[in-house]
Amino acid sequence: MRMDNDIEKILFTSEDIKTAVQKLGQKLAEDYQDKNPVVVGILRGAAPFMIDLIRAMDCYMEIDFMAVSSYGEDTESSGTVKIIKDLDTDVTDRHVLIVEDIIDSGRTAQALRRLFAAKNAASVKICSLLDKPERREVEAQADYVGINTPNEFVVGYGLDFRQQYRNLPYIGVLKSEVYQS
Ligand code: IMP
Ligand code: MG
Repeated sequence: MRMDNDIEKILFTSEDIKTAVQKLGQKLAEDYQDKNPVVVGILRGAAPFMIDLIRAMDCYMEIDFMAVSSYGEDTESSGTVKIIKDLDTDVTDRHVLIVEDIIDSGRTAQALRRLFAAKNAASVKICSLLDKPERREVEAQADYVGINTPNEFVVGYGLDFRQQYRNLPYIGVLKSEVYQS
């Protein structure tokens, strides 16, 4: 396969991911039983994870999606994100579960928490497939984490390099020549 040729090493196989997603789904279904949460996927990176995760959660829920992008360096420190696509759901007094692909610097997670607190949600929790704890620049944690990942740039299962590789079924590291091309 052509995309496989660009990969230096696989960090998490599709089996590893499936195991992590099933485990998260069971835990979340217990925690959100009778809460009818609004599960919010953050586009585009969280899309594959979101789609698998919600099917691993046996509880009533609504789903929605949001797209955000980070501001420039100076405003980033204030922990704000630009909303590219907002929710269609009114989350006032609702339990919100945000689904993210990865927590890296923590800035997006921090900004999303603030944003949903301002929308007067009943509760706001973050579930991230991956966590890169070594990279944290602001104090922000996910409430639910699938897999801790080392301080390396990863692609696949939603994660991109220049918008490519999101459709890989596993998560891996690119060969250095791919970055240089
Ligand atoms: P933050 O730095 O925690 O705000 O992370 C924001 C976003 O950066 C994530 O949602 C990803 O879209 C992207 N990102 C961070 N680390 C990686 C990576 O290793 N591969 C691909 N995208 C990443
Ligand atoms: Mg991204």
